[in-house]
Amino acid sequence: MLPLVLFLVLFNFSSSRAASDSVYESFLQCLTNQSKPSDDVSKIVLANSNSSYTSVLRAYIRNARFNSSSTPKPVIIITPEQESHVSAAVICSKNVGFQLKIRSGGHDYEGLSYISDRPFFILDMFNLRSISIDMKEETAWVGAGATLGELFYSISQKSKVHGFPGGVCPTVGVGGHISGGGYGNMIRKYGLTVDNVVDAKIVDVKGRILDRNGMGEDLFWAIRGGGGASFGVVLSYKVKLVPVPETVTVFRAERFLAEKATDLVFRWQTVAPTTDPNLFMRMLVQPSRRNNELTIKITIVAMYLGNADSLVKLLEKDLPELGLKKENCTEMGWIQSVLWWNNFENGTSPDALLNRDPDNADFLKRKSDYVQKPISKDGLEWLWKRMIELGRPGLVFNPYGGRMAEIKATDTPMPHRAGNLFKIQYSTSWTNSSEEVAKNSINMLNRLHSYMTGFVSKNPRSAFFPYRDIDNGINKNGSYEEGKVYGVKYFNDNFERLVDVKTAVDPENYFWNEQSIPPRGTT
Ligand SMILES: Cc1cc2nc3c(=O)[nH]c(=O)nc-3n(C[C@H](O)[C@H](O)[C@H](O)COP(=O)(O)OP(=O)(O)OC[C@H]3O[C@@H](n4cnc5c(N)ncnc54)[C@H](O)[C@@H]3O)c2cc1C
Ligand SMILES: *[C@@H]1O[C@H](CO)[C@@H](O)[C@H](O)[C@H]1NC(C)=O
Ligand SMILES: *[C@@H]1O[C@H](CO)[C@@H](O)[C@H](O)[C@H]1NC(C)=O
Ligand SMILES: *[C@@H]1O[C@H](CO)[C@@H](O)[C@H](O)[C@H]1NC(C)=O
Ligand SMILES: *[C@@H]1O[C@H](CO)[C@@H](O)[C@H](O)[C@H]1NC(C)=O
Ligand SMILES: *[C@@H]1O[C@H](CO)[C@@H](O)[C@H](O)[C@H]1NC(C)=O
Ligand SMILES: *[C@@H]1O[C@H](CO)[C@@H](O)[C@H](O)[C@H]1NC(C)=O
Ligand SMILES: *[C@@H]1O[C@H](CO)[C@@H](O)[C@H](O)[C@H]1NC(C)=O
Repeated sequence: MLPLVLFLVLFNFSSSRAASDSVYESFLQCLTNQSKPSDDVSKIVLANSNSSYTSVLRAYIRNARFNSSSTPKPVIIITPEQESHVSAAVICSKNVGFQLKIRSGGHDYEGLSYISDRPFFILDMFNLRSISIDMKEETAWVGAGATLGELFYSISQKSKVHGFPGGVCPTVGVGGHISGGGYGNMIRKYGLTVDNVVDAKIVDVKGRILDRNGMGEDLFWAIRGGGGASFGVVLSYKVKLVPVPETVTVFRAERFLAEKATDLVFRWQTVAPTTDPNLFMRMLVQPSRRNNELTIKITIVAMYLGNADSLVKLLEKDLPELGLKKENCTEMGWIQSVLWWNNFENGTSPDALLNRDPDNADFLKRKSDYVQKPISKDGLEWLWKRMIELGRPGLVFNPYGGRMAEIKATDTPMPHRAGNLFKIQYSTSWTNSSEEVAKNSINMLNRLHSYMTGFVSKNPRSAFFPYRDIDNGINKNGSYEEGKVYGVKYFNDNFERLVDVKTAVDPENYFWNEQSIPPRGTT
């Protein structure tokens, strides 16, 4: 794709400032030519020699593993301020023969929005973050560069009885989160984010700005869970707000193995996915020290769209093993529950959700799995032993059911709906920057993942696309065969339709990344 001569020059670009300077010059010239004369586009292009380059690059790195001196760096960072800048950036990046990596909130677990082994530019969407809410229609247009925290905050300023079923971390970006099919703690009541999207605007490979009407239903389907970056640059989504009661209830409950935690987990597996859809009970399973002994700690973190009295009554019936009392519950407004879920101190003002917290990240690795039939008590006890041996990585169980089981697997690219009891997130984080610690931590997570083989979905062993995991497969040459390896894990039978859409809208595969959808016609 890149002319060989240019590639050879760039291969060496750190020692050859002239090469990157000339790329910068050609790109800027093209951009200027594509823009109105009154528009000074030089202010949206950062060469790697620019004094702001490093701080802009780091601002939305959310995995410290990809913040080292050996991490591949973009030749140029583009920071569009208007939609027309995005069109021009696509046309001109293609012109000068560079891969474009699109970044909104930067939360990709494998850093695919800001790193690449191919010479690349970053298209950084953080300026395109406007949010406009129409309370009559109960909808909002949200710029791709907005964060979920900004969306939640904006809704709360308009209404106490509306919300949006998005992810729980306020700094996650709308562009990656919604295009990938993200979810939050109202998943059982309202499904995924993408089940609540009614329109979108995208810039395609020709630089055209298209809304739902203009792009057609196939592409609109694809960018609701198939990942935006395979198809173009998402500018914004129009989402449907959902009703929330004025009072919601949260609780957090802990149990150790010595307190019959195994019985509780066993029951949770069938109760959490089948109980009232107003209730989401996440379960954390972690090795933990207690009385000087490594054991397993279970934590249930729950959000209920209703008051404490009715929640206590519900769980007396559905999960008496928990013994939940009203004193264990806290009632609050929905926006406070967003803060509570993120461990903000009691009484924190909702505008804390506007804090973007730039240039702040742990070292981390995540993986995912789906459980379709309950794990036996013997199986659980065997698993606890393995987890205690490993000592560190934890599991997060996220129950499905409710609305998720009502939506057809083909309605959006995300197929893992009816038939799944819960999704597992494998989680490990660390703070030491040494290679050795990273290797060790990832190795332990991989061992835990392999121990789980007999308990989880197979043929294919499914994975959740927003929990990006490069171990699911990498696309090096853009071929269908390579893409299919991870494609069926994330999208199952919907992979083929995604390939059809890709073939129609970007047959030359300009919008490539390590886990993008390949076009047909490449072997
Ligand atoms: C701390 C943390 C908490 C999380 N919590 C949740 C959660 O509660 N629920 C959940 O479902 N997921 C969660 N995730 C995962 C998250 O949803 C995904 O990583 C999501 O892709 C992040 O979106 P982003 O815009 O921040 O990421 P980015 O890294 O900017 O982008 C992710 C991917 O989307 C592409 N992309 C980004 N913007 C655009 C655009 N405008 N047009 C086209 N393609 C684009 C990128 O190129 C990349 O491939 C969490 C991740 C982290 C790090
Ligand atoms: C400027 O853009 C036009 C199309 O918009 C194109 O025909 C022309 O070749 C461009 N000129 C340069 C110098 O890039
Ligand atoms: C650095 O980039 C900014 C745009 O963000 C631009 O305004 C400025 O002129 C650049 N500085 C240099 C020295 O090129
Ligand atoms: C409820 O609170 C009581 C008193 O603090 C505590 O002993 C009990 O473990 C809690 N129950 C749950 C389910 O958290
Ligand atoms: C939060 O603070 C308020 C007032 O300071 C108090 O009434 C309430 O009980 C507190 N809630 C929790 C969960 O601590
Ligand atoms: C990246 O590393 C630098 C030190 O080299 C540090 O100051 C910065 O906070 C780090 N940022 C992230 C996002 O890890
Ligand atoms: C980080 O890990 C390395 C290798 O295991 C170790 O030598 C070093 O002391 C650790 N650093 C810190 C600050 O813990
Ligand atoms: C791409 O790689 C795959 C797997 O390594 C190989 O089977 C295929 O032939 C390659 N295709 C092209 C077009 O290079």
